[in-house]
Amino acid sequence: MYTLSMNIKLETDYVTRINFTPVAPEDATISIFDHGFLFGDSIYEVVRTVNGVPFAWPEHLRRMRNSAVRLAMELPWSDEQLTGEIEAAIESGTWDGETYVRLVITRGVGRIDLMPRTCDDPALIVIAKKLPELRAHLHEVGLTLCVTDIRRNSRDAMDPGIKSGNYLNNVMALIEAREKGTDDALMLNEKDHLTECTTSNFFIVKDGVIKTPSLESGLLAGITRGMLRDIAVDRGMPFEETEITTTDLESADEVFISGTIKGVVPVIKVIGQVNWEGDPGPVTAKIRDEYYTFAGLQ
Ligand SMILES: Cc1ncc(COP(=O)(O)O)c(C=O)c1O
Repeated sequence: MYTLSMNIKLETDYVTRINFTPVAPEDATISIFDHGFLFGDSIYEVVRTVNGVPFAWPEHLRRMRNSAVRLAMELPWSDEQLTGEIEAAIESGTWDGETYVRLVITRGVGRIDLMPRTCDDPALIVIAKKLPELRAHLHEVGLTLCVTDIRRNSRDAMDPGIKSGNYLNNVMALIEAREKGTDDALMLNEKDHLTECTTSNFFIVKDGVIKTPSLESGLLAGITRGMLRDIAVDRGMPFEETEITTTDLESADEVFISGTIKGVVPVIKVIGQVNWEGDPGPVTAKIRDEYYTFAGLQ
């Protein structure tokens, strides 16, 4: 247990590294002049291990490099260096079981000026901790969503396909969802098409077909989402990336969400502009089991 300088207790053991150097969690700080802090000018990835090995790391690395390109952020590190950082953090963990790793890259220290040209090198931050136990009951019981009034950022504004540190859109949606008594928010785009939840992708099942909003709707191309699509296609399970409206949702047979840390979790209720209720269903269970087997999680 660590005490941060601002007197917040960290109830978890953390491994923290900044710019290739291990730093004690309580000393792991970055400059207030870093544009990551000033403007949310940063990118990140969250990876989990399976049997101690970072799962789908090449996919995460590719997405991170793509996020950097989209933000015109030049990364001075090789893939080997970035991989080495992740591995070093995992190896330093003293906990039993699997590891959660968050890799953050900030624009770096510069003048208080939006343009990044005055910034030094980007900073590379790795935070690792024991992978939280998945709340088992979620798989049995499912979770609840609220279609929020807060909409997902437009692709033409802050494209949700870029995994940046600017998550205020999602933070505000989550606050609204929690105020309305649900677990997570489900966000519409400006055309009234459903997009995704605050840290997960969204799926409905209708007449045996798994449907998820297409990337054109404005959402993060989740690594888990991509794997579910590939697994479904491989196993002959009908799968569509398409526009999904609240009307489609109202007539859905099953609803579920996906993400690196939570895996595949059924949804039992959606409120806010819709009123949908259902049980965790057989198609959700099948794609979840196929994914867990593929990922080596079972
Ligand atoms: C906005 C958003 N959508 C979807 C996801 C799921 O993506 P992945 O499967 O790569 O974890 C995340 C994960 O952090 C996210 O932040």
